[in-house]
Amino acid sequence: MKSPTKGIYTLPGNSEKQALLERKNAEALQGGGPLRVQAQHDKGKLTARERLELLLDEGSFQEIDRFKMHRCKDFGLDKEYYLGDGVVTGYGEIHGRLVYVYSQDFTVFGGSLSETHAEKICKIMDMAMKNGAPIIGLNDSGGARIQEGVNSLGGYADIFYRNTRASGVIPQLSAIMGPCAGGAVYSPAITDFIFMVEGTSYMFVTGPNVVKTVTQENVSAEDLGGASAHSVKSGVTHFSCGNEAICIQHIKSLLSYIPQNCEDEVPLLDYDLGQNELRPKLDTIIPDNPNHPYDMKMVVAELADNGTFLEVHQKFAENIITGFVRIAGRSIGVVGNQPQSLAGVLDNDASVKAARFVRFCDSFNIPLLVLVDVPGFLPGTDQEWNGIITNGAKLLYAFSEATVPRLTVITRKAYGGAYDVMNSKHIGADLNFAWPGAEIAVMGAQGAAQIIFKKEIAAADDPQEKLQEKIDAYTRKFANPYKAAHRGYIDEVIKPSETREKLIKAYKMLANKVDSLPRKKHGNIPL
Ligand code: HXC
Repeated sequence: MKSPTKGIYTLPGNSEKQALLERKNAEALQGGGPLRVQAQHDKGKLTARERLELLLDEGSFQEIDRFKMHRCKDFGLDKEYYLGDGVVTGYGEIHGRLVYVYSQDFTVFGGSLSETHAEKICKIMDMAMKNGAPIIGLNDSGGARIQEGVNSLGGYADIFYRNTRASGVIPQLSAIMGPCAGGAVYSPAITDFIFMVEGTSYMFVTGPNVVKTVTQENVSAEDLGGASAHSVKSGVTHFSCGNEAICIQHIKSLLSYIPQNCEDEVPLLDYDLGQNELRPKLDTIIPDNPNHPYDMKMVVAELADNGTFLEVHQKFAENIITGFVRIAGRSIGVVGNQPQSLAGVLDNDASVKAARFVRFCDSFNIPLLVLVDVPGFLPGTDQEWNGIITNGAKLLYAFSEATVPRLTVITRKAYGGAYDVMNSKHIGADLNFAWPGAEIAVMGAQGAAQIIFKKEIAAADDPQEKLQEKIDAYTRKFANPYKAAHRGYIDEVIKPSETREKLIKAYKMLANKVDSLPRKKHGNIPL
């Protein structure tokens, strides 16, 4: 600045310096400007900063790299700069616990990912790793910043690499709150949980136009990769949320069940252990007819504190249920066959869904509860040709390698290979309970009788009567838990109403469990 009296330049005073900072802060907070913010709101979407306000405890957000700008000079970008470069990054608290966050700002270059945008995300990821806290990404982006070419692709790869290194070390959550297309989908895909917002978010590797060109299929973005497609059909997303506020609520809720990192434990909630833990309703929940369905979620509700179950993958592979409960204040991961859907059979989708969930819980020290009512694996060419052998093996592998406390309750059927797979004693479960009506056998009585007494039945005067006689004999022998209990494969046969009490005591007993895998680089789970 030129001095009016002496004709020489002087430095600005402190108040001017502070005013400059204020101007810059105000500019950064504007994002892409009021018109683009309005356009964002008109689509029913919040801005990057509004989302963070909802997500984080009030006043806890500390922004990092607010003034970072892109370095690209091509295609007019030398004249267009926005402070922050389309992503808001930093750290804050959720329910008083540290988290790292990034929130893409669609109002700046469509939230597209430039080299510097990627650097900001990577910096936050590195901090999350060093300090052992979850990272949450709020994605709303047109993908790679087209003007930047390979620099942007490199930026994505830097993120993917960090996602992979962080996997199993810190929890990583991804919310999709707008477009997420092309290779950009692979960052969320590596993270632990994906949330999508119905109607305003989509994910796909190639969009509808490319699909039309290559396969001649006509499909809308919503049908191809909206929340419904990915929560029901592909299983890519774990939570489909009615709107952004609900999505953010789900994220907070999920965080309450998981620890800060793999060395940490989930905080135990206060719980009065002197309560009456009997749940008489469980004594009447199983229908008299073993072929009639019931809702395993009702069992979960009875076993959980306050009946609360945070279900993961609610609409995908409904024949198995996965999710989190608290039992006497302790966070527990639940896997249960669902007799109400496909009789609770294990198929490709159910196996993969449960395997991934078990591995998450084991990575992050969350004890497991496995509720078993399974008639076996689903037969058929569709299942075989789509890899039920490999997929079923994933679940078997996931349980077998899990070292967290593992409890099993067989509520009714446990047939065939599925008995082994569903956290049996043989693959390392800590305590296995069975209800009095449990049936533990190689297969159902009808199928078994037809195979092993085939000749005798065929030679009988009344084959139907003979078949029934053999079914009854097989049922008497195996349609109970006592054969397994005699062998010690079942540790205790319990009344259903006592289950919660037994679980509380067992988890307490296992609280200091120490178990580890043989030394290795990493296992080779059948992918
Ligand atoms: C630069 C982009 C951009 C991008 C959007 N914008 N995407 N700028 N690079 N990838 C800009 C637009 O020019 C526009 O700028 C503003 O963001 C808003 O975009 P609109 O098109 O007006 O918004 P909308 O109609 O809502 O459409 C959103 C959209 C569309 C569907 C995302 O913008 C779109 O198709 N973008 C390109 C998507 C894409 O092909 N990306 C590359 C994918 S491949 P103004 O100034 O007008 O506001 C990829 C590879 C990753 O990402 C590989 C990793 C390994």
